[in-house]
Amino acid sequence: MQTGLTTKILDSSEAAVAAAARCLEAGGLVAFPTETVYGLGADATNPPAITRLYRAKGRPLFNPLISHVCDLKAARRLGHFDATAVTLAETFWPGPLTLVLPKASDCAVAELATAGLDTIAIRVPAHTVAQDILRAFGKPVVAPSANVSGHVSPTTAAHVKRDLEGRIDLIIDGGPVEVGVESTIIGCFDPPMLLRPGGIPREDIEHVLGRPLGRPPLDAENDNGQPLAPGMLTQHYAPRTSVRLEAETIAPGEALLAFGDAALPGIDQALAVMNLSAHGDLTEAAANLFGYLRKLDTAEARAIAVMHIPDRGLGEAINDRLRRAAAGRN
Ligand code: TXA
Ligand code: MG
Repeated sequence: MQTGLTTKILDSSEAAVAAAARCLEAGGLVAFPTETVYGLGADATNPPAITRLYRAKGRPLFNPLISHVCDLKAARRLGHFDATAVTLAETFWPGPLTLVLPKASDCAVAELATAGLDTIAIRVPAHTVAQDILRAFGKPVVAPSANVSGHVSPTTAAHVKRDLEGRIDLIIDGGPVEVGVESTIIGCFDPPMLLRPGGIPREDIEHVLGRPLGRPPLDAENDNGQPLAPGMLTQHYAPRTSVRLEAETIAPGEALLAFGDAALPGIDQALAVMNLSAHGDLTEAAANLFGYLRKLDTAEARAIAVMHIPDRGLGEAINDRLRRAAAGRN
């Protein structure tokens, strides 16, 4: 792993945006806020910079990156937009939606970033700092979540610092993010597929398309034998402490991640309790999820017990992340 760099941290400002663009131009790694989670950016057209990014995260090279651009016009230079893709882009961009499309033949994004696939993942983020950096830089930016691979995604600049200090060049601090779970990823295949539940609920997308979204099995491949969802490793988003789902009671020595009314038997014995949303609001719960998991991970608990969370709206993304956090640890 790459260490020994001095990581500069700047509060977001015009000067910080200019510094971020210069750093990207020089092949550097810059963490910046998006509305979903903090991203770790590199110049998508610069293979050595992308190599450094994979190394800084400890990310396997087979797992491709999302290319971020400032608008649909810039996105059209990277991928082929069919009618479904145009409808989704016009409805949800800028915002927490990533589209997987056939890669354009003259796409400027390096092969390394798309892991040799003939598709590309593209996102137009809404966060003003992300937008300003993309406009100042003027080229696509690859940006995975700014955490060590497999760890919980960062929702504050402090989370990024804890994971990546000494491995990246610059962190732009734009305060806590708004959405708190990563973008929804839609594969614009026929039929369109939900590759990762995220910040835009499935129901909203299905409503706009007027049809249900498919959900491919994890090992699904395209006609060329390439994986449809190479990043959906089961063990991911993992705190160090084991995670126990659908908790209805608390055992001694456990910490509780609650949702709604937290009057569970045994709660007096919990080492720590954090409530994602006391009044059962899934949007608030998504925004709190990763930060609370990180906090409870420091409680030295036997396990983090997690109460039932409904699977509708943002609950689908929350439950997806929690299932991954629990995988292989129980
Ligand atoms: O909200 C987000 O999407 C954040 C912010 C920073 O934009 N980014 C993010 O990136 O979550 P990352 O790298 O943590 O997750 C990207 C996911 C991975 O699961 C990867 O496998 C998938 O996107 N992906 C990238 N290119 C793909 C492709 N061509 N086909 C299918 N999946 C792809
Ligand atoms: Mg990630």
